Amino acid sequence: MRSILVTGSSGLIGSEVASYFAKLGWAVHGVDNNQRAVFFGPAGDTRWNQARLAVAHPTFQHHELDIRDRDGVVALVASLKPSAIVHAAAQPSHDRAAAIAFDDFDTNAGGTLNLLEAARRACPESPFVHMSTNKVYGDRPNTIPLRELGTRWDYDDPAFAHGIAEDLPIDQSMHSLFGASKVAGDVMVQEYGRYFGMPTCCLRGGCLTGPSHSGVELHGFLSYLIKCNIEEREYRVFGYKGKQVRDNIHSLDVARFVHAFVDAPRSAEVYNLGGGKENSCSILEAFAMVERVTGKPQRHTYVNQARAGDHICYYSDLRKMKAHYPAWGITKSLPATVAEIVEAWQHLPRTTS
Ligand SMILES: NC(=O)c1ccc[n+]([C@@H]2O[C@H](COP(=O)([O-])OP(=O)(O)OC[C@H]3O[C@@H](n4cnc5c(N)ncnc54)[C@H](O)[C@@H]3O)[C@@H](O)[C@H]2O)c1
Repeated sequence: MRSILVTGSSGLIGSEVASYFAKLGWAVHGVDNNQRAVFFGPAGDTRWNQARLAVAHPTFQHHELDIRDRDGVVALVASLKPSAIVHAAAQPSHDRAAAIAFDDFDTNAGGTLNLLEAARRACPESPFVHMSTNKVYGDRPNTIPLRELGTRWDYDDPAFAHGIAEDLPIDQSMHSLFGASKVAGDVMVQEYGRYFGMPTCCLRGGCLTGPSHSGVELHGFLSYLIKCNIEEREYRVFGYKGKQVRDNIHSLDVARFVHAFVDAPRSAEVYNLGGGKENSCSILEAFAMVERVTGKPQRHTYVNQARAGDHICYYSDLRKMKAHYPAWGITKSLPATVAEIVEAWQHLPRTTS
């Protein structure tokens, strides 16, 4: 039986990837220590999701391990020698990082190095998929000329008609400490591909979303926005008139791409992974979309101060992914994804504080 090691397995992406491969009959080894609850408090608790995986999938095994524990990571990978590794554990918040600089860097950069080196020693032939982020581009996307439309910003440069491609420079811009620690991990993953020839790739995510997100204000845009709507809480919009644009991809479509890569791996690749222009929305447009599903007006306040290093308009150019993996494409539209997340917040048992 083929086996996969998934870090961050109680989180949004890790749990989706774990379920996906368990359904394919793989042995799935999940690594998580519920650090999300440490980063974000009780609302970030992911134990409900860990429990859900254990009940749903007999081939799923949870390993309570901190990816910063170098010896622990090296020993686990040496004992399992998995056929593939998907690294989705992280301190994932742009804004949270500044207050926890050591935790952020040790997790995102150090934890990634621990896994890479463990993989090189134990299973260098196994595909290694790293969840990176579009924040590696820093605020460079904000230098692209923009035009203001009724409810959103859009690029005013035909070179970006399809969105942001992988050749956008990543340095000499403001990243947030999170973006910088993710750059370190991203470049290291590429290096293990180029220098050691390992089958690695970095997926530079836009907004990754889905029903299994434990969304909080500091991370999980759509999940948190929908939670606010359902619970009739105030959602705070930070700057750019609420017209800032994100592209949203359902976690299942992320897992499907991971599968495509694991089946036909390449080396040292980088892909911008998001919903693309079609699945993009501004915050104002997201409000309207959610209101249509729940029938509840979205309460919100406007803070006239953008988040440092935030993107005004970002959507991924998916053409490289589609060129390398033509059978892959987006299967979940944004309205369908919103409806699923609404349903999940209303019915899934979990911490909702
Ligand atoms: N969700 C998004 O919008 C988004 C966008 C771009 C990139 N990403 C990246 O995708 C990856 C997955 O994101 P997600 O949304 O699933 O995040 P998530 O917070 O839902 O999941 C991450 C999981 O990792 C675990 N974790 C954190 N630190 C750990 C540690 N030191 N040891 C063991 N486990 C640890 C957490 O407890 C959590 O369950 C991250 O690398 C993130 O930076 C996410």
